Amino acid sequence: MSLPSHGANPQTLYEKMNVSMPSSIIDLSENSNPLGPPSIIKDRWAEWFQAISSYPDPEGKTLKQVIASFHHVQENQVLIGNGAAELMMVAAKLWQHKTIGVIHPAFSEYERVILANGAKLQRFYTDERSNWQVDSFQIEAFLSKGHSLFICNPVNPTGMVYQVELLEKWLKLAEHSNGMILLDEAFIDMLGEEHSMSDWTGSPNLLIFRSMTKMFSLAGLRLGYLLGNKDVLNEISALLPHWNVNALAQLAGQAVLQDSAFQQKTRSYIKAERQRIFNFLKNAGFRTSESKANYYLLQPPDPGKTAQLFKWLLGKGIVLRHTENYIGLDGRWLRAGIKSQKENDQLMQAVKKWKLEESSR
Ligand SMILES: Cc1ncc(COP(=O)(O)O)c(C=O)c1O
Repeated sequence: MSLPSHGANPQTLYEKMNVSMPSSIIDLSENSNPLGPPSIIKDRWAEWFQAISSYPDPEGKTLKQVIASFHHVQENQVLIGNGAAELMMVAAKLWQHKTIGVIHPAFSEYERVILANGAKLQRFYTDERSNWQVDSFQIEAFLSKGHSLFICNPVNPTGMVYQVELLEKWLKLAEHSNGMILLDEAFIDMLGEEHSMSDWTGSPNLLIFRSMTKMFSLAGLRLGYLLGNKDVLNEISALLPHWNVNALAQLAGQAVLQDSAFQQKTRSYIKAERQRIFNFLKNAGFRTSESKANYYLLQPPDPGKTAQLFKWLLGKGIVLRHTENYIGLDGRWLRAGIKSQKENDQLMQAVKKWKLEESSR
C-alpha cells in the first residue's frame, strides 16, 4: 500500500487506508501554526485584491527588504520562492554531479530533489537508540571530502534540534573542502531565531532554506526564501521561473514577518501545549521524541501496535502522520502536530479510550 508521502489532504489518506472518513475530522498530520494565519491577512485581504490583475514584482524587492531587515542581512543575500520546496528543487541543480548527504529520518523532499537533479545520494541514519543523535565523526569525514549535506533543523519528524556550535563546526569543514551545507530551517521560527545560522549568511558554502508557510500558516499561499551568498543566489535565481512568487504571497509575507508579537505568542503557546501533551502521553505509557518543535513523534506502550493505533485513530476522525516513508522510521512511530487546545484534548481523550479498549481486549 503506498500511503501519501506528506501530511495534509486527509481525504487521500482515508481512501488509501480504506477507512471511511467521519463527517468531522481533526488533522494533526500537518504542522502549520494553529494560531495562524495572523489576523492582518484577513484584515487586508480585500485591499490586496487589486494586486491579482498585474504581474507581481519578479524580484519581490519590498519583501526582500523586509526579510533582509528581519535577519540583519543584505538584500542581495535573500532570494524568495514559491515555498521552500521550490527553492530546494532549483538549488539542487547547482550540485547535479556532486554527492549530497541526508541524515535520516528527514523530510522526504531532500532525497527527491537530489535524485531528480541526478546528484549522488549518501544516507546517514539516526534512531531512538541513540536519541536521534547523528555520529558527528561520520559527518565530518563526509564533509571533509567536499561533499554537501542537507540538514533539517529542527528535524522533521523528530523535532530534535542541532546545536549552533555543531553546525558551525560542520560549516567550517564545508568551507575548507568546498562542500555545501543545505540547511533547512523551515520550522526554526517555532523555537526562536537564536537557533538559526542566519548570522553566517554570506558564506559561499551555506544556504539556509526558510519557509513562511509553517509559522504563518500560509501553506496554500506558498512562500519561502533562501538566505545565502549573493553569487550563489544569483546562480539559483537564473534557474527560477520569472514571477515565481505571486503578488498576494508577497504582500502577505511583508505584513506578517513584521508581526513579532504573533511569533512570540506562537512560541509560548507551542512550548506550553507540548509540555501538557507530553505529560499526558508519558503518564499513559507512550514514548515521544524530545521535540522542541511544534510536532513530535509518538509511540504506544507496545510499539508493535503503532499501525493499529494509527488506523483506529483515523476511524475516530483523528489524523496523524504515518512514518512509513520516513527512512529509518519505517512506520515504527507516528507524528502529530501541536494544534489548538481543543484538538490536542481530542487526541488525548482518544488515547485514553484506546488504552481502555486495549486493556479490555
Ligand atoms: C522540513 C520541511 N522543510 C520544508 C518544507 C516545505 O516548506 P514550504 O511550504 O515553504 O515549501 C516542509 C513542508 O512540510 C518541511 O516539513
